[in-house]
Amino acid sequence: MEKLKVAIFGIGFMGRVHTEALRRLGNVEVIGVAGRTTEAARKFADNLGIERATGNYEDLLADADINAVHICSPNDLHFPMAKAALQAGKHVLCEKPLASTIAEASTMIALANEKELANCTLYNVRAYPQVQNMRRMCEAGEFGEIRAVQGTYSQDWLLYDTDWNWRIESEPSRTFADIGTHWCDLAEHITALRFTSLCADLKTFYTKRKKPKHSVETFTGKTLRPSEYDEVTVKTEDFGAMIFGLGETAKGSLTVSQVSAGRKNRLFIEIFGSKASAAWNMERPDELWIGHRNTPNEIVIKDPTLLREGAQSYADLPGGHSEGYDDTFKQVFRRFYRTVVDRGAPIEYPTFEDGIRQLRVLDAVLESSRNRAWVHVQG
Ligand SMILES: NC(=O)c1ccc[n+]([C@@H]2O[C@H](COP(=O)([O-])OP(=O)(O)OC[C@H]3O[C@@H](n4cnc5c(N)ncnc54)[C@H](O)[C@@H]3O)[C@@H](O)[C@H]2O)c1
Repeated sequence: MEKLKVAIFGIGFMGRVHTEALRRLGNVEVIGVAGRTTEAARKFADNLGIERATGNYEDLLADADINAVHICSPNDLHFPMAKAALQAGKHVLCEKPLASTIAEASTMIALANEKELANCTLYNVRAYPQVQNMRRMCEAGEFGEIRAVQGTYSQDWLLYDTDWNWRIESEPSRTFADIGTHWCDLAEHITALRFTSLCADLKTFYTKRKKPKHSVETFTGKTLRPSEYDEVTVKTEDFGAMIFGLGETAKGSLTVSQVSAGRKNRLFIEIFGSKASAAWNMERPDELWIGHRNTPNEIVIKDPTLLREGAQSYADLPGGHSEGYDDTFKQVFRRFYRTVVDRGAPIEYPTFEDGIRQLRVLDAVLESSRNRAWVHVQG
């Protein structure tokens, strides 16, 4: 069987996660990577045994053998890279947030449609087995009518003013665009309801931060020495809160933070229905809490035989063997490449349409916080 050939643009945290997950599929080969410089790309490629490395991603787009491109670069590069890849006839998987603006995302969707190319926005959190389990339970009406959805996505890696990452300069939004977007996609995906209106409040605690004189990759800022910084003004938010309406009747609340000491990647979501409740924490992904009024509450541990139908295919391992973050990428990629091989196969992964949807939610969050008012969510 001839393997599908792919290229990865961006060789940081996500570049590595994508490469490793792709290798677990069996029918896909990473044949090239692009970084900011050829030297950095070569180092990454040599470490992972990848043939081609370049500091100019256009080089790889000229290769007719490459079927698909994974975009794992900083957010402002998603659009130019995706546009060029689609124009070159490549299927595209793009990290979240899909683009910097709704207009850019619309252009990407139009191009993908015109060229009939498969497209994906990496809302990988959807692919945890217990997330799919919650979704199927919602679909089956096990929680009754959904009344409230609440939660948080809290991290601590930007707690100090000496912590730095390119995200800090990723205007107009950082914490919401970076992690709030995962939570919002999840809330809509699990409940099949959409945000209708919201009221948001964003806060930048550090209006000045110390920026390293040389670039750092995600989660490595803690190792730098103070003498290596410049002080810069910060406009992106450290923290955000919102209350919202979901569907016709449900309500909810969310906080997002990158300055919460001790919270690493605490994506927590809780759903309250007229019959029962559910809660899930991404840091303990195998566990699903189910709440009842008249019988004891349950903690269901991931086990393919105990998951609802439709969720089972997201668990590859027997109960007692954890499935985590890396596995979600494998699950998304498996489904994506199925549709590359068979263009008529069902689309069971988040697409560019899901990416633009969350940009609309983000737009409403920014407008609401700026105007200190409730805002209707478009689309
Ligand atoms: N789905 C998830 O769970 C998840 C998690 C983290 C990050 N992300 C997303 O992935 C993307 C990358 O984030 P990261 O954490 O891996 O960042 P990172 O800083 O670790 O890596 C970014 C990479 O892009 C490269 N790059 C910069 N300019 C380039 C250029 N002109 N050409 C080619 N490569 C270039 C950098 O050299 C670096 O290797 C972001 O959009 C982020 O939002 C998604």
